[in-house]
Amino acid sequence: MKIAIAKERRPHERRVAATPDTIKRYLQWGFDVAVESGAGEAASISDAAYREAGATVGATRAEVFAGADIVLKVQRPLMQGASGDDLSDIPDGAYLIGLHNPYGDRAGVDAYAAHNIVAFSMEMVPRISRAQSMDVLSSQSNLTGYKAVIDAAANYGKAMPMLMTAAGRINPAKVFVMGAGVAGLQAIATARRLGAIVSATDVRAASKQEVESLGASFIMVEADEGDTGQTAGGYAKEMSDDYKRRQAELIADHIKGQDIVITTALIPGRPAPTLVNDDMIASMKTGSVIVDIAAEQGGNVTQTKPGEITVTANGVKIMGEFNLPSRLATDASALYSRNLMNFVELLVDTEAKKLDIDWDDEIIKGTCLTRDGKVVHPALLPEEEKAPEPVAAEAAAQDSGASETETPGKGA
Ligand code: NAI
Repeated sequence: MKIAIAKERRPHERRVAATPDTIKRYLQWGFDVAVESGAGEAASISDAAYREAGATVGATRAEVFAGADIVLKVQRPLMQGASGDDLSDIPDGAYLIGLHNPYGDRAGVDAYAAHNIVAFSMEMVPRISRAQSMDVLSSQSNLTGYKAVIDAAANYGKAMPMLMTAAGRINPAKVFVMGAGVAGLQAIATARRLGAIVSATDVRAASKQEVESLGASFIMVEADEGDTGQTAGGYAKEMSDDYKRRQAELIADHIKGQDIVITTALIPGRPAPTLVNDDMIASMKTGSVIVDIAAEQGGNVTQTKPGEITVTANGVKIMGEFNLPSRLATDASALYSRNLMNFVELLVDTEAKKLDIDWDDEIIKGTCLTRDGKVVHPALLPEEEKAPEPVAAEAAAQDSGASETETPGKGA
């Protein structure tokens, strides 16, 4: 059995899909491991470190991919341009494991099917307790929340904690975190550690307790009776127009007193909701900073420019930088690689040292996009071909209290 580790080619991507530690484990399971030269460079892992762990390092992608059963990636292959990852280098029937953005790049999924690649999408790992160690969204969001606060602090012209000095007192920064999922909770914890006064909001009523347990205050508009603001799977749902209007009023009132705003609100399968509008930005103080973590999904802030840091007419800095976890490439790679290793273990009989997949496993069914030259994931099939989704079964179990899903927010 052979595993190939590719060098990432997409812009802003510095992570790598395996570390020397995970490679040692693959070798114990009976794999040969080949790494493309320079794959770990941006994450501070040298070719020599990979060799020391027992991998071979190849100069070209074709050489590294030749004969591979499994190709590990961070981002989906780049299929255009001279430096693109050519799918034809991936052996027929090989497993390609990574972040494939299947809803945003349907053409890519079709290309995998056409090349007879068996693609597994790590962002679709179901949120059940057995899969927690494979949950790349949690591991990467956690670092995102931390990095957002560090970036905000670096771009804020004042200190975060209260400082009493002989020359006078410095007031603590007021940080407002919008969206208290995995990234938001880590942002709250980080801002608190830096000494800021922190408040947060979310549409999911269940997040109130988590926010308050981190020492932040929770602000939220009352939803209609019985509305928890979340789906059975624990994600935010689209709220009513009336709710959105009341939420905008509450935020408008709160935001003008804030120094730093971190927005993290996402709704799976939909563009990010707009939470901070032009009037709210105009009401903020000169020197305030907004970090829009949702920038890549359209942004939570009307004036975010994805990939850029802009300064508004009234002197508010808006940061829409791409791929925050990639900017902590060493730690992000270590966590992502371990998530992948735990997933690969599902595909292997480690005693017999051979590939052995249970295609009916909930995690396999929930992540497999293409197989036998066809698109197979239920969520990507036309309505008439859809079988019941594996995650739907889990959600129903959760409703009846029988799910193995962990307490929301545990990953933070
Ligand atoms: P996410 O990345 O999809 O969204 C971020 C946050 O934004 C969420 O808390 C969401 O409720 C909030 N949000 C969405 N629309 C909003 C709006 N209009 N206004 C204010 N807030 C809004 O969320 P993430 O971080 O993936 O977490 C989703 C849920 O899954 C959470 O309950 C989380 O605790 C839970 N979770 C469960 C895991 C498990 O069971 N293994 C692992 C990780 C997370």
